[in-house]
Amino acid sequence: MPALEDLERQLGGLDGRRILVRCDFNVPLRDGGGRQEIADDLRIRAALPTLRWLTERGASVTACSHLGRPSGAPDERCSLAPAAERLAELAPGVALAENLRFSPGETANDPAFVEALVTGRLPVPFGGAPSGSGSASVSAAFDGYVNDAFGASHRAHASIVGPPQHVPSAAGRLLAREAEVLGGLRTDARRPFVAVLGGAKVSDKLGVVEALLSVVDTLVIGGGMCFTFLAALGHPIGDSLCEPDFIETCERLLGGGANIVLPNDITALDAGGTVRQMGRSLPDGCRGLDIGPGSAAEFDDVIAGARTVFWNGPMGLFEDERFAAGTRAVAQSMADSRAFTVVGGGDSAAAVAQFGLAPYMDHISTGGGAGLELIEHGDLPGLAALRDSPQQ
Ligand code: 3PG
Ligand code: MG
Repeated sequence: MPALEDLERQLGGLDGRRILVRCDFNVPLRDGGGRQEIADDLRIRAALPTLRWLTERGASVTACSHLGRPSGAPDERCSLAPAAERLAELAPGVALAENLRFSPGETANDPAFVEALVTGRLPVPFGGAPSGSGSASVSAAFDGYVNDAFGASHRAHASIVGPPQHVPSAAGRLLAREAEVLGGLRTDARRPFVAVLGGAKVSDKLGVVEALLSVVDTLVIGGGMCFTFLAALGHPIGDSLCEPDFIETCERLLGGGANIVLPNDITALDAGGTVRQMGRSLPDGCRGLDIGPGSAAEFDDVIAGARTVFWNGPMGLFEDERFAAGTRAVAQSMADSRAFTVVGGGDSAAAVAQFGLAPYMDHISTGGGAGLELIEHGDLPGLAALRDSPQQ
């Protein structure tokens, strides 16, 4: 993939050049007393090395992003205004266009919308003028394009795959690092390589489970998805999450000779609303909501013996303190491990931040779905678009 230096060389320097940077500022928002505020600015901070590198060289930088899933029309609840405010503090002088998904052309990858983007006709922020210093206008054509939106690069959307067809383009620092680390897990992981998967659904992760089984030494499974596997082993799982249509698939995966570790105890809520420590079998009315302490200890042994660990998905309902112990234990095991530790984005990254363990991880990805798709397929539409750009 072309790097920022390649773009600089190609444009004969960046001073005064207009550069469009696709970021993934799809940040979690919360209600801050009547107005939306950012709950976690990881994705904005992660783009700073690229944005600062460009502005230090005199480029006129306009960032763009999507936020949420508006229906192709302006929607104040999905405004990037909170992100623009934070960005103005962290990278003064960088303009931020309004949510790309306010136009139906973004997700449809409409060539006319791509054309609008590269010629500077971007969605304008609510209230009119683009944010930032005012020096970067959003109504002039761009000289170059940078993709630093790793978290959105599994989407073949206009702003991700379109601009490299039209203007000199490069991978930003974040995108390049994410692609190297997550893509490298498939090919260059030091062994033993352990993957820990959690989250609610097996169906969401089937592709990645199969891909991981062919490269990892051990696959550890917790979270809501473990119950379909436990059901496949014949255990009664009470009222826990289960995807009956996938029991057969889980049976096949378990019978494939791979080293899959499932929880041997469960923290559950019984019919009377009492939290109980259970084994692998849960009676009717009982709902498993976290891995138990025995499983946490066993998972710790597996993680401690690894040289590479990839983790995606919480072990339980960690937002509820009664069911946070398993997720906290996995995060702590990773922090204590001498392995190269990679945390997938989304909930696992949020959990690691909540526990104050982020500084002890080797890589915390900004991409949830994107990371999983890169591991599954070895490539993403956004990466391919940069490699295949005819503008090089
Ligand atoms: C994410 O948060 O996963 C990315 O920003 C992609 O968002 P999307 O799933 O709405 O395309
Ligand atoms: Mg380590």
